[in-house]
Amino acid sequence: MKLEGKIALVTGAGSGIGRAIALRFAAEGARVVVNDVRKDTAERTVAAIPAGQARAIVADVADSAQVRAMFEEVDGTVGGLDVLVNNAGIGDVGGPDRDRALGKVEARVGEMLSGRPVTAHWDITQAMSDETWRRMLAVHLDGTFYCTREALRRMSRVNRGAIVSISSVAGLVGMELAPHYGAAKAGILGFTRSVAREVASRGIRVNAVCPGWIDTPLLDPLPPLVRTLAQRQTPLGRLGSPEEIAAAVLFLASDEASFVTGQWLSPNGGLVTI
Ligand SMILES: NC(=O)c1ccc[n+]([C@@H]2O[C@H](COP(=O)([O-])OP(=O)(O)OC[C@H]3O[C@@H](n4cnc5c(N)ncnc54)[C@H](O)[C@@H]3O)[C@@H](O)[C@H]2O)c1
Repeated sequence: MKLEGKIALVTGAGSGIGRAIALRFAAEGARVVVNDVRKDTAERTVAAIPAGQARAIVADVADSAQVRAMFEEVDGTVGGLDVLVNNAGIGDVGGPDRDRALGKVEARVGEMLSGRPVTAHWDITQAMSDETWRRMLAVHLDGTFYCTREALRRMSRVNRGAIVSISSVAGLVGMELAPHYGAAKAGILGFTRSVAREVASRGIRVNAVCPGWIDTPLLDPLPPLVRTLAQRQTPLGRLGSPEEIAAAVLFLASDEASFVTGQWLSPNGGLVTI
């Protein structure tokens, strides 16, 4: 029971990694606020947790007013906040450039896997619309800032707390098929290191987790060949599970990591070894 008596808010907890974190935190004794932009999936996660131990709050983390209202609802219902996990995210290139970009990805990855000389170029950045760039940065980077700001306002009253933000190996080494995603995830790492230094004197710890390829619905829009490439590129020979990421997040959120702040932990099957 590593989170006995703690209150945790997990964003994007209706699916994939966020859902696994919410379920693991609850199993470790925490009361969990399950945020998602989708009501149906948030409620499904709550239903999988013992009654009275979890609560769903629908909010778009990219909207600062909705984030503020969510934290006010936490104040009025659950009480304090010990742990924030910034997990909500999107992987889809979305927008009008989506089909073109996915076609490019499929052609390029197909050539890479076939062993033929590569002739297809990615050409993702030069075709990207302002809207696609903005939405990616808004959900990941603005969302992490808005939620962290509200959490710190509460954690600073008691001078304790832990914040864990989900970055990615894309934030460590880049990602050619999604440069906007790589930029957002690298931004989360810079923000994590800076805020960790800023709030250390208050006893608040701030860390990041950088997953490799994880088997979640986030990968569904990608051509199936990308999954094959991911397996081949990963030394352990498979995609990770959401539960394997939840275990890393639990460590950083718990008192086991009491001397760990401003760091990233990367469960990635050996994909990145820096
Ligand atoms: N799956 C991977 O391979 C992988 C790898 C590295 C990092 N990540 C990161 O892990 C996190 C979780 O991704 P996942 O793989 O579980 O994907 P997922 O699609 O299964 O879950 C993401 C959840 O976030 C929610 N969400 C999206 N936009 C939101 C918003 N604006 N406000 C609130 N909720 C929102 C979605 O509704 C969904 O429930 C993301 O930050 C993602 O970038 C995933």
